[in-house]
Amino acid sequence: MKDFILKTNPQLIQTKDGSHTLYLPGIDEQYHSLNGAITESLHIYINNGYLYHQGGEKNVFEVGFGTGLNCLLTALESEKQNTPTTYTTIEKYPLPNELVQQLNYPKFLDKKAVGLFNKIHQANWGEPVKITGTFSLYKIQLDITTQPLPGVLPADVIYFDAFGPDKQSEIWELPVFEKVSAITQKNAVFVTYSVKGTVKRRLGSVGFQIEKLPGPPGKKEILRGVKVR
Ligand SMILES: C[S@@+](CC[C@H](N)C(=O)[O-])C[C@H]1O[C@@H](n2cnc3c(N)ncnc32)[C@H](O)[C@@H]1O
Repeated sequence: MKDFILKTNPQLIQTKDGSHTLYLPGIDEQYHSLNGAITESLHIYINNGYLYHQGGEKNVFEVGFGTGLNCLLTALESEKQNTPTTYTTIEKYPLPNELVQQLNYPKFLDKKAVGLFNKIHQANWGEPVKITGTFSLYKIQLDITTQPLPGVLPADVIYFDAFGPDKQSEIWELPVFEKVSAITQKNAVFVTYSVKGTVKRRLGSVGFQIEKLPGPPGKKEILRGVKVR
């Protein structure tokens, strides 16, 4: 991605379910669906990814920490299900704290969400941090297109939440899928919102069996892959 993204001020906007997202005028792209940020994250990453994965403890790996919304929803779900979860997330461009403080996610969620959201954002980059009794977080600042994935546990669930392939094609190229596949266990569940033909083919070629699923409001379909080899 061109670094002009860093120089364009992300703008806070409200999506259809009332929850915020950020809009980047420089690339005309937002962090979540305008039809509902929380609605989208719950549908794709929690319901069709985290909860779909069979098994006890879970290692989640996220591409694109962004606002921390997926992370917050996963932490809440891990507490609710009493499922020990290690959440490793990578981000090239961490957001400024002043902006994060304005995000309204906790007000739509369980009362624990305020404290959790703060802890998630205050956690240092580059070191594992225990957030709750069941949820540990490891935020790593790196560029997945140029750097290796250091010290990442074999993942059970992958949230692939980059900007769209039309806006950030380099992150949807085969070498990135190869890197993700290399840190992934058999039977791992991969979820993303793009059902583009090239994405399906590349994910299939690194060992995932692909299926399309109904999308959240405003999006016909999403993609899920299960690691079969
Ligand atoms: C769609 S947003 C992620 C939304 C996020 N999951 C959330 O819950 O708010 C995509 C994210 O990928 C990050 N990103 C862009 N290029 C990257 C790269 N090369 N390596 C790692 N992260 C990158 C962006 O800065 C942005 O935060």
